[in-house]
Amino acid sequence: MRAMHISPENPMFAAVVDDLATHGWSQQALFLPADLVRALAAECRRRDAEGQLNPAAVGRGDAQEVRESIRGDQIQWIDPGQAPACDDYLAAMDQLRQAMNQGLFLGLEDFECHFALYPPGAFYRRHLDRFRDDDRRMVSAVLYLNEDWQPENGGQLRMFLAGGVEHDVQPLAGCLAIFLSGVVPHEVLPATRERLSLTGWFRRRGNDPF
Ligand code: OGA
Ligand code: MN
Repeated sequence: MRAMHISPENPMFAAVVDDLATHGWSQQALFLPADLVRALAAECRRRDAEGQLNPAAVGRGDAQEVRESIRGDQIQWIDPGQAPACDDYLAAMDQLRQAMNQGLFLGLEDFECHFALYPPGAFYRRHLDRFRDDDRRMVSAVLYLNEDWQPENGGQLRMFLAGGVEHDVQPLAGCLAIFLSGVVPHEVLPATRERLSLTGWFRRRGNDPF
């Protein structure tokens, strides 16, 4: 087994919890060690080379469809046991989940995430990460995997915050952007080069319909 990179006492967890409580979002420039981020980028590229990434859909259930005029990324969901780097990532995010439950009482039960590859020119129009028929997604978390990203490459995550304030996050390797899924509208701006990320959601227990 590989050594864990992140301990529950990591001060970054406390900073994320604090930021979410006060502003509804947070940004951590060096969330994970560079070697793990590089291994995750390599895993994303490997899956792309093997044709495992598929055009992302919008909507849910029967209403799901691919619409490149809304989002143009290619994705693949991550499951435990597929690759050591992915397992390390899932372990780190589970520790973050526990820290958020202790500090924010959100009752987060699990974390689902996928690799996302935006080809040059692709974007994701302004949206909220919640479906009308499923409000289990509470906290969105995006880890970026792009080394040497320059602002002129575009591809920023733009968050629309209270008071008409816009905040842009550069998709730079190792940076984590995290925000309340039902509160912060956001978009992905088109980029001049391929843009890789790991996008995920912490979810609470679903409501029993009966
Ligand atoms: C998403 C999303 C943001 C990003 O996949 O829902 O908003 O910066 N991604 O990749
Ligand atoms: Mn989103």
